Amino acid sequence: MSLYRLLIRPLLIQFQPETIHKFTFAWFKFFQRFALVRWIVSVQFRVKHPSLERHLFGLNFPNPVGLAAGLDKNAEAFDFLGSMGFGFIEIGTLTPKSQAGNPKPRLFRFVEDKALVNRMGFNNEGVEEAVERLKRKRTNILIGGNIGKNKITPNDEASKDYITCFNSLYSHVDYFVVNVSSPNTPNLRELQGKEPLKKLLNQLVVLNQSKEKAKPILLKIAPDVNTSQLDDIIEIVQETKIDGIVATNTTISRDSLSASQNKIEAVGAGGLSGQPLKDRSTEVIRYIHQKSKGNIPVIGVGGIMNKEDALEKLNAGASLIQIYTGFIYEGPALVKAINKELIKRTI
Ligand SMILES: Cc1cc2nc3c(=O)[nH]c(=O)nc-3n(C[C@H](O)[C@H](O)[C@H](O)COP(=O)(O)O)c2cc1C
Repeated sequence: MSLYRLLIRPLLIQFQPETIHKFTFAWFKFFQRFALVRWIVSVQFRVKHPSLERHLFGLNFPNPVGLAAGLDKNAEAFDFLGSMGFGFIEIGTLTPKSQAGNPKPRLFRFVEDKALVNRMGFNNEGVEEAVERLKRKRTNILIGGNIGKNKITPNDEASKDYITCFNSLYSHVDYFVVNVSSPNTPNLRELQGKEPLKKLLNQLVVLNQSKEKAKPILLKIAPDVNTSQLDDIIEIVQETKIDGIVATNTTISRDSLSASQNKIEAVGAGGLSGQPLKDRSTEVIRYIHQKSKGNIPVIGVGGIMNKEDALEKLNAGASLIQIYTGFIYEGPALVKAINKELIKRTI
């Protein structure tokens, strides 16, 4: 059993999840300044092997295990998180203007289900703050920029927000993720509809082509889309020639939660992540992979809690994977365990 599961997690779990997040991030931010500390952490957790390397979208990933969006929303600790063994870190979701997000409490644990429910609502300090931090990047960790729209921006003006974020982040990130799938910004997921999605992606593709070197653009989708919506999304991704799909975001479904109805109702609205999301997310990945005949690269995310779950996502067709809730429950040892297992499988 890892030190994290034996000592650290039982302690952390005594506090409100968001309090703990703030506390640990303060430490991460402090320690990441010291190259020696980053090196010590990386010696503990980073696994290097040629078989882990992935070449995708013109980028060289040292391993296929990334940190999903939402943990380092404001690009505060990517250097430190990188030293924990991740092959890439996705920052954001960022919006043009800073916004507070939903009232607290807005992040809840379902420990027995190894799950979280959140209704953060894109709380972030705004894209320019993140850019200032990215300018001070100390390591060569690959960074994805996950972009969204402010709550007050109506959907028919949403592309302006995505364009603002794209332009600001362009010189500072390695790839982009267009997030139209958070359940916590009212009506955001309507942007997954055929016409609004086509319009939004086309505008971003044209903008991207106007730059000296186009950056990979991926679309992050919800697990709550039906097959016909998924078919439309696949068609649009192929038509607009964006680079791939991140599947999936959190779900609004509570069907796979074993917790009591009372607890579920007490927690209320939000996106469910972790173990109960795993099967649906894998199903979406497999569908995209099969329908596109493997031509759309997929970053698989949703409920990866152990190395077997990671293999399941890769076997379903994911080229890379990401974790969030698994990292909260298992700590950085999970990243190491997945990478070590992948090496074992290729030897
Ligand atoms: C507290 C929390 C905040 C999140 N914030 C974002 C976000 O800002 N943007 C985004 O694209 N996804 C966000 N996500 C979704 C994760 O990136 C991921 O897609 C989802 O949690 C499923 O993966 P998991 O089961 O490994 O957590 C968030 C998830 C959690 C739990």
